Amino acid sequence: MDWELRQKEDLDKIEAWLRTYMMNRKPYGNLNDAMRYSLMAGGKRVRPLLLLETCRMCGGDVEVALPFACAVEMIHTYSLIHDDLPCMDDDDLRRGKPTNHKVYGEATAVLAGDALLTGAFEVMLEEYGSLPKDRVLRAAACLGKAAGSRGMVGGQVLDMAGEGRTLTVGEVTELYALKTGALITAATEMGCILAGGGEDARQAVVRYAEKIGLAFQVQDDILDVMGDEATIGKSVGSDARSEKNTYVTIRGLDACRELVQKLTDEAVAALADFQNAGFHRWLAEKLAGRQC
Ligand code: IPE
Ligand code: IPE
Ligand code: MG
Ligand code: MG
Ligand code: MG
Repeated sequence: MDWELRQKEDLDKIEAWLRTYMMNRKPYGNLNDAMRYSLMAGGKRVRPLLLLETCRMCGGDVEVALPFACAVEMIHTYSLIHDDLPCMDDDDLRRGKPTNHKVYGEATAVLAGDALLTGAFEVMLEEYGSLPKDRVLRAAACLGKAAGSRGMVGGQVLDMAGEGRTLTVGEVTELYALKTGALITAATEMGCILAGGGEDARQAVVRYAEKIGLAFQVQDDILDVMGDEATIGKSVGSDARSEKNTYVTIRGLDACRELVQKLTDEAVAALADFQNAGFHRWLAEKLAGRQC
């Protein structure tokens, strides 16, 4: 199977859906422009891909899951807009372009983020098509929990509170599970929920996602030190400037590279009971070697 081609087909669906979502919207000031600027800036779309492919792996229909996949991407994009603000990581470059607040100002950047977050729930609760309502509610609740104070936002708070202090590996691991792992895990879990997967399947895909979620953030830390700015599309050295605690500052680069591979192997092993986990194996390995 050509997984690269499968990924391209999924990405085309995701881009087309998001483009349509941003089309023909009544303009309120430059809010739509600001939303579109970040949403359509060419992110990797890892989370929606995971949702669609987990849905497929668990026997579901990718087409009906598409609005949910894009809802996760909308929330992810909002998290990046806010993450870059001067009051947070204070970064100037994102997805290869000046950050949202650099172009539209801080107030509009905050509001564009708010609109993407709330729009995600609007989309899921309106565009569920033929999906059974109990699956729709469980998927939306899963994303709400993962995005909020018990998930991504909680992790961002710990990330900010840790600046300039020394955290333990355990503390950083918890912080990563929340700020990055929660949305990646929710996307994967939602795919299984929407497909009507059973409890064993749900637990297995969550184990997979937790491993690749941690690997993803450790690789992000490595790229913040070793990456090429033009390739990653964001400023290198941001973590050091903000005196962040990262796996790289605590463990060093070599140990981090080994850890990314170990976590990737564990992620792949978590799906041993699936006959059709080829895409997930391919994606895990691809993310472990990513340079952007
Ligand atoms: C960046 O996420 C923020 C982290 C959680 C590390 P991605 O690396 O998925 O960013 P995009 O969506 O491709 O821009
Ligand atoms: C981001 O972590 C996690 C989010 C919830 C956005 P980082 O602050 O390391 O992400 P980048 O490196 O700016 O993309
Ligand atoms: Mg940050
Ligand atoms: Mg950041
Ligand atoms: Mg980073």
